[in-house]
Amino acid sequence: MSEKIYLYPVWIRLWHWFNAILCLLLIITGISMQYSDPAYPMIRFDWSVSIHNIAGIILALSYICFFLGNILTPNGRQYFFRKGIVKNLISQARYYAFGIFKGENPPFPITKEHKFNPLQKFSYIFVMYVTIPLVILTGIMLLYPDFLVIDFFGNKALHITDILHVMMGFIVSLFLIVHIYFCTIGHTPLSNFKGMINGYHETH
Ligand code: HEM
Repeated sequence: MSEKIYLYPVWIRLWHWFNAILCLLLIITGISMQYSDPAYPMIRFDWSVSIHNIAGIILALSYICFFLGNILTPNGRQYFFRKGIVKNLISQARYYAFGIFKGENPPFPITKEHKFNPLQKFSYIFVMYVTIPLVILTGIMLLYPDFLVIDFFGNKALHITDILHVMMGFIVSLFLIVHIYFCTIGHTPLSNFKGMINGYHETH
């Protein structure tokens, strides 16, 4: 018999799926602008630019909601590290590498107070509090390059801002692949996805 714990309040679910759609739009249009042959683009260049700019601005606003939501509700506490971070990360990685295949119990069972295991927590903190803020900041700088970058720091800084923006975009893309893969490791391969829809996490 499985047990269900309510872990994802409505606002987190709405933010999450809205954020996922925006990130997918940004990744697809970003790849199209960066890599496709201008003569035969994946998506028409002017459409990619418009979609990328609009989705980027909405992502920045939606990030403010995530940030405020985590300050104003108990969900924010889930993003604090527990004592013994390194030891906990190693123990969780060991479980994913070996223990899970031997049918061992997870070292950090999911509870209402601790809904993330240490690796999940580390990746969510890294992506939500380092990568996304940097991709937004560099994106805003690239949107107003003359005013925000060139006048103050010169042309070289524009190049560095661009590289940083693309690098952060890659990190978000990599995170997304790993994130979706790890979300399939649940009570059933689909149960974590259902959890982010109905709010309830299913445990063994
Ligand atoms: C199609 C894309 C995506 C799918 C299918 C997906 C799926 C999921 C699922 C099933 C969960 C709940 C399981 C868990 O707690 O780990 C989750 C949580 C989460 N995801 Fe995603 N995700 C997607 C995109 C993203 C993106 C692009 C980001 C960030 C850039 C993201 C950040 C998060 C965060 C921070 C949580 C924890 C939220 C909380 O409970 O406070 N996800 N995701």
